Amino acid sequence: MAFYGLAETFDAGDRILTAEAEYAANYVAYLQMAKRRGVEIAVVPSDETGVLSVDALKEMIDERVKLISITHVPTNGGLINPAAAVGRVARDAGIPYLLDTCQSIGQIPIDVEAIGCDIATATGRKYLRGPRGTGFLYVRRALMERFEPPVLDHHAAPWVASDRYELRPDARRFENWENNIAAQIGLGVAIDYTLEIGIDAISERIMALAAELRARLAAVDRVTLRDLGPEPGAIVTFTVDGIDPVAVREALAARRINVSVSNRGSTRLDMERRGLDAVVRASVHYYNTEEEIDALAAAVAEARA
Ligand SMILES: Cc1ncc(COP(=O)(O)O)c(C=O)c1O
Repeated sequence: MAFYGLAETFDAGDRILTAEAEYAANYVAYLQMAKRRGVEIAVVPSDETGVLSVDALKEMIDERVKLISITHVPTNGGLINPAAAVGRVARDAGIPYLLDTCQSIGQIPIDVEAIGCDIATATGRKYLRGPRGTGFLYVRRALMERFEPPVLDHHAAPWVASDRYELRPDARRFENWENNIAAQIGLGVAIDYTLEIGIDAISERIMALAAELRARLAAVDRVTLRDLGPEPGAIVTFTVDGIDPVAVREALAARRINVSVSNRGSTRLDMERRGLDAVVRASVHYYNTEEEIDALAAAVAEARA
């Protein structure tokens, strides 16, 4: 909603800067904007550790850049992009900054003021452990007042005279009249649950578990860890020589260990650059135990093609 709301601020030749690990849903929206408005998508290279290069970003800033839009933590691994450093560049240049926090919300503390983003998108169904089909959007008020949401109804914009509507003054202008209230309540409960445990405690625990899992997997023959960045987060990804990631997932499922597979089409630029078709993804959370980490590493060691 927020990205499409910006459509009218884009002219042909304007640029959207994004990162190599950008998520498909976002990139497809940029491509559609390129088709509709003639914007160019420019991809900021990663540094030698695999995170977005802030130096390269600085070099790419010019008057054509109308939006910086990146994913904080990508779907295909533990990479954590330097969101706050990107925010400082965006602020200095006065460029709107959209951050996709779908994988980072609930995993690491997110402070939109410290990060300096103008728009943050978040989903309920990942590290917040909320219901599917829920999420939330943050838009900085000063930016929100510069554009209209792309879709309006009488909830977002009450019909105040027969020839006029008035946009709501608050974030509800991005909502619709009809909502899945049960799922929204579920999201609220999930957020309360997270806040009760405490995001710092959650983050500390899941980072420790993820580090432990990486250490265990690194010791298994034929396993290659695929996470990027100097301090990777809780999504642990890997491949096993000679075994298709789907077969690894199935072998683990037979032992009641749930992992998923991230495919090239979700983060195409990054996967193509690294010559990867798919990776196995183990997203640890605070309720996982050290025994489960051991069991996972042992099951991977025993997996056969
Ligand atoms: C980085 C990123 N953004 C957005 C999403 C989409 O989340 P949802 O489908 O809940 O909107 C995902 C899902 O994998 C993701 O990894």
